[in-house]
Amino acid sequence: MNYRHAFHAGNFADVVKHVCLVALLRGLSRKDSPWLYLDTHAGAGRYDLRSPPAQKTGEYRAGIELVREATGSLPPALTDYLEVLGALTDTAAQQHDHYPGSPLLAAALARPQDRLVACELNPLEHAALDECLRGRQRCTVARQDGYQALAAYLPPRERRGLALIDPPYEDPREFTRLAKALIDAHRRFATGCYALWYPLKDEGPLAGLKRQLKTAGLRRLLTVELRLTPLPQGGILHGCGVLVMNPPWGFADQLRDALPVLARILAPDSGTAAVDWLVPE
Ligand SMILES: C[S@@+](CC[C@H](N)C(=O)[O-])C[C@H]1O[C@@H](n2cnc3c(N)ncnc32)[C@H](O)[C@@H]1O
Repeated sequence: MNYRHAFHAGNFADVVKHVCLVALLRGLSRKDSPWLYLDTHAGAGRYDLRSPPAQKTGEYRAGIELVREATGSLPPALTDYLEVLGALTDTAAQQHDHYPGSPLLAAALARPQDRLVACELNPLEHAALDECLRGRQRCTVARQDGYQALAAYLPPRERRGLALIDPPYEDPREFTRLAKALIDAHRRFATGCYALWYPLKDEGPLAGLKRQLKTAGLRRLLTVELRLTPLPQGGILHGCGVLVMNPPWGFADQLRDALPVLARILAPDSGTAAVDWLVPE
C-alpha cells in the first residue's frame, strides 16, 4: 500500500467526488430518520495543502483552488459544497491551506441521530484520521479492510445509509473486487445508497465493471462523469466518475445542473460532463 492521498487532496477528482458526497448526504437528510455513512477507504480526514506532498504535485491548484476562485453565480450543488468546506474552518486563511477528506465532510453533515464508520488500513493515515475525528459523537474509526467492512456493517440498523467506496486503484484487480463487493453489498442491503469513485484512464476494466453490475440485475445505477479532455488518452488519467446506486430523489437533476459548470471551471476549453442512467428504475 504505497498510495498517499496527501499528494492528491483537493484535486479535480476530489472535487467531483465530494460535490457528489455532499449532495447525497443532503438528500438522505431530507428525512429525519437516521442514516449510516460507511467510508470504506477513508484516508486521513484532513490534508494540509502547504505540506510537501501537496506542494510537490500542486494538484489542488487545478482543483479546489479553481472552484474557490470561480466567478459568477454557481449552481446550488457547488455553492452548498463550498459552504460545507467553509464551515469546517474558522478563517479564510485556514480554508485556503486545508482540504477535508470524505469522512470529515460526512461528519460535518451528520445530524445527532446519524452514525459514521470510517475504515482506513494504512497505519499512518488511520492515526491521522483517528485524531481528526476524535471527540465526534457516533463516529467509529476502524483499521479495517473496507471491503470486509461492507459485509460487517451492512445492512445497518438504521435501514438507511450511504457507503462511499473510494479505493486507490493501485491493484489491477481493483475493478473485479469492486464488482463483487457491490453485488454482495446489494444482496445484503438492496435499498442502500452506494457511491463508487473511479478514474477515467484505461476504460476496458471500467466497461467490465459496468457490464457485471448490469448483468447481476442491479438497478437505479447512475454515472456522473467529468472529463478534462474529451478524447480518451491511453493510460492517462483524463477524468473521473462516480457510480451511484439508489441516489436520493433529485440527485441526478442537481448533478446535471452542476457538472457542466464544474467541467468549465476545471477545464475551460476541453472539459465535458455526463450524468446518465446506466440502469434506470
Ligand atoms: C483515495 S484514498 C481515500 C480518500 C478519501 N475517501 C477522501 O475522499 O478524502 C484511498 C485510501 O484507502 C486506503 N486503503 C487502501 N486499501 C484499503 C483497504 N483495503 N481498506 C481500507 N482502506 C484502504 C489508502 O491507505 C488510502 O488512504
